[in-house]
Amino acid sequence: MTIHIGAKPGEIAETVLMPGDPLRAKWAAETFLENPVCVNEVRGMLGYTGTWRGNRVTIHGSGMGMPSLSIYANELIRDYGAKTLIRIGSAGAMQEKIKLRDVVLAMTSSTISTPSKGFFRELNFAPCADYDLLEAANAAAKSKGISTHVGGIYSADVFYDERPDLNEQMTRHGILAVEMEAAELYTVAARYGCRALAVLTISDHLLTHEALPSEDRQSSFSDMVEIALEAAFP
Ligand code: ADE
Repeated sequence: MTIHIGAKPGEIAETVLMPGDPLRAKWAAETFLENPVCVNEVRGMLGYTGTWRGNRVTIHGSGMGMPSLSIYANELIRDYGAKTLIRIGSAGAMQEKIKLRDVVLAMTSSTISTPSKGFFRELNFAPCADYDLLEAANAAAKSKGISTHVGGIYSADVFYDERPDLNEQMTRHGILAVEMEAAELYTVAARYGCRALAVLTISDHLLTHEALPSEDRQSSFSDMVEIALEAAFP
């Protein structure tokens, strides 16, 4: 057990899918995994371990924002031996060409700050995805006829943003979408020699102000789980 995860040693798989919402972790585990067992309930941050096509997988919530994700990613890697971590979540589109429900695969993530910024000091570390996972996820999405965009995203610290000028600069520099977790996931994974990827569906559009209805969010979440599983076990 760790401070935030109640799983016993050996109860977490080497491959972990991380949705932000713990109830989505429960739904995904019960829908896609064989014999899912709940391995964490501490603070309501649910985690389940089961198998997919014979491969052990854990699906564990990350919570919202980089400080929350950082706690779980650190403990999953350092204390439970996780090796491959794939975030599955939503993002807001920052380019006209990206439509609601499209999938963005985050090759890199720009940030103002991550929980790791304190020790990098003057260095601007460039958080990036694992290339093999990225390529496999792109192939999996394409085989399902899902439109993907691969490139840089922005991991923000705030959802209710008071800096529209910053978003404009992101759009101008080709950033595809904004979310709130990937940069820290990539940074923590890099620190421990692990593989990481963020698979994101577009739930809202910063330029057109459209948003996905909740039924569509559920089906696009389902697509992301399948893409992530196929990327982890191609
Ligand atoms: N996740 C989904 N949409 C988002 C947005 N517009 N900003 C930050 N995180 C998001």
